[in-house]
Amino acid sequence: MKISFIGGGVMAGAIIGGVIEGGIASPDEVRVGEPVAERRDELEERYGLKAYAGNADVLEGAELIVLSVKPQVLPHLLPELQSALRPEHTVASIVAGATMKTLTDGLMHKAVIRIMPNTPAQIGCGMSVWTASDSVPESAKKATSQILRTLGEEVYVPDEKLIDMATALSASGPAYVFLFIEAMIDAGVYLGMARDMARQLVLQTVLGSTEMVKQTGRHPADLKDMVTSPGGTTIEALRAFENGGFRTAVFDGIAAAYEKSKALGS
Ligand SMILES: NC(=O)c1ccc[n+]([C@@H]2O[C@H](COP(=O)([O-])OP(=O)(O)OC[C@H]3O[C@@H](n4cnc5c(N)ncnc54)[C@H](OP(=O)(O)O)[C@@H]3O)[C@@H](O)[C@H]2O)c1
Repeated sequence: MKISFIGGGVMAGAIIGGVIEGGIASPDEVRVGEPVAERRDELEERYGLKAYAGNADVLEGAELIVLSVKPQVLPHLLPELQSALRPEHTVASIVAGATMKTLTDGLMHKAVIRIMPNTPAQIGCGMSVWTASDSVPESAKKATSQILRTLGEEVYVPDEKLIDMATALSASGPAYVFLFIEAMIDAGVYLGMARDMARQLVLQTVLGSTEMVKQTGRHPADLKDMVTSPGGTTIEALRAFENGGFRTAVFDGIAAAYEKSKALGS
């Protein structure tokens, strides 16, 4: 499949790696438009593809065009692409906050896909949520799903509202988890443990607990109860967390991110 990328940065690099290594496209089927010469050389050397300074060269013959630029670049990029797009092109955007309306109106193009990935996609452990307009052909939807699976897990949603929810949950989510990890490590240091050791203990605990919820399919509250013996140490910590409003803070934080995501898109 012929795939072209507009923007050859971090996320484009992760997707290109997955696409080529996963056999979805051969290196000669992948083109990248990227203004930075050093980055073009890097991508060409690493993947054997062709990278161009101008975007017009990149669109020629492409079946799927992936917009992978920073959000602030989009207002300049959309008008530039308008005249170069053909009805047979499908444009998939990973640009944070760019709604279906922004994309279809800005490109004056109907076949558009909106993807909301997250940063662990950079290491193949991402969570991508995506939606497509009615004009997107089944073949392009199938390709998108295949491409996103090279970055981790993917979920297609028919309603864009769920993209705003996903923004608050899975796209911003890594920041919440990193904050929790950081706080746990600091707490270990507070107790007197060396930072390296606290880091090892916390990371394996978070990883192991996530895997346990996934592999057993059990409710997290069930698994929590299993480590919480009557009058023990865990319930002591849980009481302090409840006193500190832990659950309320998580609810409020995610609800605030959802409101912000909706406001940014309108
Ligand atoms: N990184 C993540 O994990 C992640 C997760 C979720 C969503 N996203 C979204 O994915 C998008 C890309 O993020 P990123 O982290 O990959 O950004 P990035 O590393 O900055 O990559 C963007 C690339 O596009 C280039 N570019 C700028 N203007 C261009 C133009 N007119 N035509 C072609 N290329 C152009 C940039 O070059 P210059 O450096 O010269 O500007 C840069 O190399 C963003 O909208 C971001 O919100 C990223």
